[in-house]
Amino acid sequence: MKEHEIKINFTEYHSVDELDIADRALCTEAITALKTSHSPYSKFRVGVAMRLQSGKVLHASNQENVAYPSGLCAERVALFHWGANHADDPIESMAITAHTDEFQLLKPVTSCGACLQVLAEYEKIQASAIKMLLYCQDGPVWVATGIESFLPFLFFEDRLK
Ligand code: THU
Repeated sequence: MKEHEIKINFTEYHSVDELDIADRALCTEAITALKTSHSPYSKFRVGVAMRLQSGKVLHASNQENVAYPSGLCAERVALFHWGANHADDPIESMAITAHTDEFQLLKPVTSCGACLQVLAEYEKIQASAIKMLLYCQDGPVWVATGIESFLPFLFFEDRLK
């Protein structure tokens, strides 16, 4: 019998003002992305901005549907759009923010497992780690680089062999 311990590292910034200019700008782009959220059912808007190696910034937001499971999180809207249109331009960083009129958000939104799994696959394909900026407009910003900071036990294709 052997016990294992996995440590996850991330950096907490008190506010967006502590970030460098590029990361701060990407967080502002994520706020812009909130506008396109289609979230009449949860009333919870999620905005994503991804900066690519070329400098291009992609926006995405959560898209819900009256058939609830048909909707998709903002992260996967962003990632599948990237996979279909920009896969030759690696993702350098991804800012995620959220807003609801129902209550005040005091902690950053952390992506669901399905989004992390999709992120893991694209990170592996592009062979470079993605900087994740989890941005809470009324709270801290959490920053970590590389999917394994968020999902250490993700499913990799080598398990299929
Ligand atoms: N949602 C996201 O878009 N990303 C997350 O990281 C968490 C949840 C969406 C899904 C749904 O439209 C709404 O937020 C409430 O769960």
